Amino acid sequence: MSSQKKIAVLASGAGTNLQAIIDAIKNSKLNNVHIAAVISDKKDAFALERAKSAGIETVFLNPKDLTKNTDYDKKLTEVINNYDVDLIVLAGYMRILTKSFVNAFKNKIINIHPALLPDFGGRGMYGKRVHEAVLKSGKTESGCTVHFVTDEVDAGPIIAQRKVPVMPHDTIAGLSERILAEEHKLLVEAIEKVLCK
Ligand code: GAR
Repeated sequence: MSSQKKIAVLASGAGTNLQAIIDAIKNSKLNNVHIAAVISDKKDAFALERAKSAGIETVFLNPKDLTKNTDYDKKLTEVINNYDVDLIVLAGYMRILTKSFVNAFKNKIINIHPALLPDFGGRGMYGKRVHEAVLKSGKTESGCTVHFVTDEVDAGPIIAQRKVPVMPHDTIAGLSERILAEEHKLLVEAIEKVLCK
C-alpha cells in the first residue's frame, strides 16, 4: 500500500477482531493502515479499553441520547466524517445501520460475520445465535465471511470467506472459539484486499 489509509472501527463487544487489526498494524502485516478511531454503542465494550491501551481515539455514542435509529446514525455519520476515513470496519458491531448511513459511505463499509454467508445471516443472526443455529441445522461446515455492507442485512458482496469444520459433538463455545481464530486472520486479509485495490 503506498499512501496511508485511515480506518474507523465500530465495535460493541470484546473487540478481539479489533485487537487482530491493532496487532497486524503493529507487526507490519497490515502496512500503511492507521486506525483513526474506535467507536462503540456500548460504554463498557472491552473494545474501547483495547483501543485506549493502543493509544487510539475512542468515541462512545450513547443510544439512550439518540433513541431514533436515524438520529443515532446521523450523529455517527458526523463523527466519522471528522476522521475522513477510507474504510469503516464493523468488528462485532451489533446495531443495524440505517439506509442513509450505508448510502453515505457506499462501498466503504465492511462487516465480519461468524458464518458462511449467505447462510445463517440476516436480522437476529449475530454472535452466539449464529453458532447455535448452525449446530441445530446439522451442517458439518461453518466459517466466517467479510462482506461489503449494503442496506440489506448481511447480504452485500462477499470479499473473503474461510471454512471451519463443525465437529461431531461441537458446542457453541467450541465452534465460536475456532471460528473467531479464523475471523482474526480473515479480517486483516480483507482490509488489505479492500484498501490495496
Ligand atoms: C464476532 O464473532 C463477529 O463475527 C460477530 O461478533 C463477534 C465479535 O467478537 N459479529 C456478528 O455476529 C455481526 N453479525 P469480537 O468483539 O471479539 O471481535
